[in-house]
Amino acid sequence: MRESIPVLPIDDPDYWQDPYSVYRRLRAEHRVAQNDQGHVVPLHWNDAAWAVKGTDFIAEGIEVLERRGFRPGDPMHTWRSNAIGVMEGDDHRRVRSRATGALSKRNMDAIRPLIRKHAHQLLDRIRGAGTLDVHKDYAAPLPRLVMMDFLGINADELSGSFAAMSRVNIVDCFGPKVTPELRAAANEAIQKSMDYVAKLYAKRRLEPRDDLLTHLAQAKDLEGELTHGELITLFSTIFGSGASTSSVLASGILELTRHPEQAALLRGDPERWKKGACEETLRYRPAIIAIGQKSAADQDAFGLRFGAGEPIAVVLGAANRDPERWAEPERYDIERDPTVMSLTFGMGAHFCLGHAMARATLEEALACFALRCDGLALENEPRWIPFVAENKLDRLIVRFEDAKG
Ligand code: HEM
Repeated sequence: MRESIPVLPIDDPDYWQDPYSVYRRLRAEHRVAQNDQGHVVPLHWNDAAWAVKGTDFIAEGIEVLERRGFRPGDPMHTWRSNAIGVMEGDDHRRVRSRATGALSKRNMDAIRPLIRKHAHQLLDRIRGAGTLDVHKDYAAPLPRLVMMDFLGINADELSGSFAAMSRVNIVDCFGPKVTPELRAAANEAIQKSMDYVAKLYAKRRLEPRDDLLTHLAQAKDLEGELTHGELITLFSTIFGSGASTSSVLASGILELTRHPEQAALLRGDPERWKKGACEETLRYRPAIIAIGQKSAADQDAFGLRFGAGEPIAVVLGAANRDPERWAEPERYDIERDPTVMSLTFGMGAHFCLGHAMARATLEEALACFALRCDGLALENEPRWIPFVAENKLDRLIVRFEDAKG
């Protein structure tokens, strides 16, 4: 730990209910804080953005999982070693380029009607019910359905091992408190998933279709550009990332419920305000809590000395509420300029590959929700689950009336 740098109270479950007030208080007086492991946390937008996008700090590698107790040979270790998130330079570009085209904004805009269709079908099921179990009824299934369409897998293909994956949030293996139980469950789930994805690829080789799975399998076979492990991890990373979209969607519904005037604005003119609703929710409640970076060399940064390889934690919620970038940052306001980007998708070479899919899903999902559900009220005061890597509400139940018209 570094002396005279404030420490984030990560061991306190109450901190997780409102970490933003802690960031606000610390940011007013300090340039950086540190987490429980002594990793420096930049508190201001400029420092955080520079640390994520620059070459001076680079993405942490497999050591993040090793700090959480995963060892070489563990399925999680094998899986993550093949992820683009831990690659740099030519390897990173080679693997990332295989999926960039498929996930382009143009392609994602083309599937918006499909997203709306799924959203309305889910909302049809709760018509007249008066209450919405947000995660179960809407926020979890919608991104999953969109993802299944996009990847070209059906419900039968999804059952089996992906059922095991849905019981564990793999992202939590990067969180601050990883228990032996979580490690065991994650290793088991990811092994099943890897075996299953290998079978799916084999199936598409025998019966090619016009889907991403076939496209990736052929890219490997025809161009030899991806290893078997990279192919498996790329597919399951894309599939698993739908959980982040679910997290932001649930947060958006929470904030629209807490701010009826914002919900009314969106309901009144969804085409005009859906982008603002999406970007503001991303800013206000980032899904991923922190991006782990490390110093690329011995250097001075944020007025401190760093050794090569020394880890830092870029806490997205701290950067996203810096008053130097956003006026009244603690206010949820869908009327903000949506082109002022937050740090929620990262920045630079590792910028989220699925941002266009996530944005298309969130914009359409929030707009459909506001159009269909009026008179919103919280059934319970939801709690944020502590000690995880991804912001998650324990249970969010919203009362609503069917909107007229
Ligand atoms: C709201 C939803 C999402 C959020 C908040 C989110 C956030 C992030 C963040 C913070 C990163 C790391 C960026 C960095 O290190 O600079 C990332 C990387 C990534 N995301 Fe997302 N993500 C979301 C949805 C998705 C979706 C839907 C997909 C797939 C379709 C996806 C695929 C990826 C991939 C493959 C990477 C690794 C990129 C690389 O290392 O080059 N994400 N995401």
